[in-house]
Amino acid sequence: MTAKAIWLDGDMVAWEAATVHVTTQSLHYGIGFFEGIRSHLTPDGPAVFRLTDHLRRLQRSAAVYGVSLPYPVEVLRQACLDVLRLNGLGAAYLRPLVFLGDGANPLAAAFRAAVIALPDGPLAGASPGRPVTAKISSFHRPPANVLPPVAKATGQYLNAYVAQREARAAGHDEAIMLNAEGYVTDGWAHNVFVVRDGILRTPPCSAGALEGITRDCVLRLAEDLGRPTVQENLVRSDLYLADEVFMTGTSAGVVALSSVDDRPIGDGRTGPVTAAVAALLDDVATGADSRHPEWREYV
Ligand SMILES: Cc1ncc(COP(=O)(O)O)c(C=O)c1O
Repeated sequence: MTAKAIWLDGDMVAWEAATVHVTTQSLHYGIGFFEGIRSHLTPDGPAVFRLTDHLRRLQRSAAVYGVSLPYPVEVLRQACLDVLRLNGLGAAYLRPLVFLGDGANPLAAAFRAAVIALPDGPLAGASPGRPVTAKISSFHRPPANVLPPVAKATGQYLNAYVAQREARAAGHDEAIMLNAEGYVTDGWAHNVFVVRDGILRTPPCSAGALEGITRDCVLRLAEDLGRPTVQENLVRSDLYLADEVFMTGTSAGVVALSSVDDRPIGDGRTGPVTAAVAALLDDVATGADSRHPEWREYV
């Protein structure tokens, strides 16, 4: 899948021309920061979902590593809107990427930025599809004094990669990672929620979960639905014994888990709380529900 143009270091560049040299330091050392953002078709035109919040997270991801973004958030925000417009995209996936350029010494190389936009289908949460299976990974999330999990940094995804490969090789769809203390963190690109006795629980970010934008939406939309939420440490048996378990992320929306480590969750189908949260999130993102207008940033 391609688009016409990519925003690269302040210019719109043809898709084929947006290339980098093999000495690009990020290729060698995995030093970079990125975001995954979606835009949706709404009755008032295409709107990017929580664009500014995503770009602020990008800024925080870099700040954790002591790096300032090479462009201000407002410039990157405009780049996201421009790249959607220029490519004529409505429902789309946006990938802002900050990476270290070429040079022999990573400490002397300058950071660069790109914004890629690709056409996208409807939000996966729109009609919660097939629940997926998950496996607790034998690979842990690195602790904050090794690779701070609060940062969405490119190199950290080696950890996600090894966990996800292990899960797929064992016949599961998704990996869930524990931290070194044995508490649940999140999936390779998703946050995790359990529902038990009507209460939604999710691990705190201090356990090693990314500050997911969808996670934040679910915590706030659950309140709108009159559902109590708790952020607290969870152990693997909290997943096994839940009435419902679901994962949240920009690309997938809200997706139910049918089993964890081959233990069925509920009746293996998308549960009522998961379905209600998924439907409300989809309605808010696509403007079918007017609440949280600040989350829809119009192209
Ligand atoms: C490790 C990890 N956890 C959770 C998420 C979900 O975050 P969001 O809802 O902002 O997409 C992601 C995706 O960015 C992720 O990479």
